Amino acid sequence: GGATSGPTGGNQVEVALLSDIPVGGSISATLDGDPILLAQPVAGTVVAFSAICTHQGCVVLPAKTEFDCPCHGSRYDAATGAVLDGPAPSPLPEIAVTLDGDSVRAG
Ligand code: FES
Repeated sequence: GGATSGPTGGNQVEVALLSDIPVGGSISATLDGDPILLAQPVAGTVVAFSAICTHQGCVVLPAKTEFDCPCHGSRYDAATGAVLDGPAPSPLPEIAVTLDGDSVRAG
C-alpha cells in the first residue's frame, strides 16, 4: 500500500512498488479495481496474475512462493500461475507488467 497510482501517458498503471514485493515472495494488489497477485521470484523480475480462482472465482491470496485459494484449497505456483493442487482446472491468467525504476506497472 501507499503507492500513488495513475496513468502517466501509457496504458499501464502503477500497481505496486518493486520494493514492496519480497524477493522470493508475493503480494496482493489491484488493477482497475480487480484483485491481482504480484510475485518477485528472483530479484528484479516481477510477474503478475489475475487473483480470480479459475475454479469458482474466489480471490486467491499470496503465500510466498505460491498462491492459495481459501475456498477449496487450490494452490498455484507464484512464479508461473500454474496449478499445483486442484480443484482449479487451469492456471491463473498472467498480466503483463513492466518495471520503471521502482514502479511496477501493469495493464
Ligand atoms: Fe478456488 Fe474453489 S474457488 S478452489
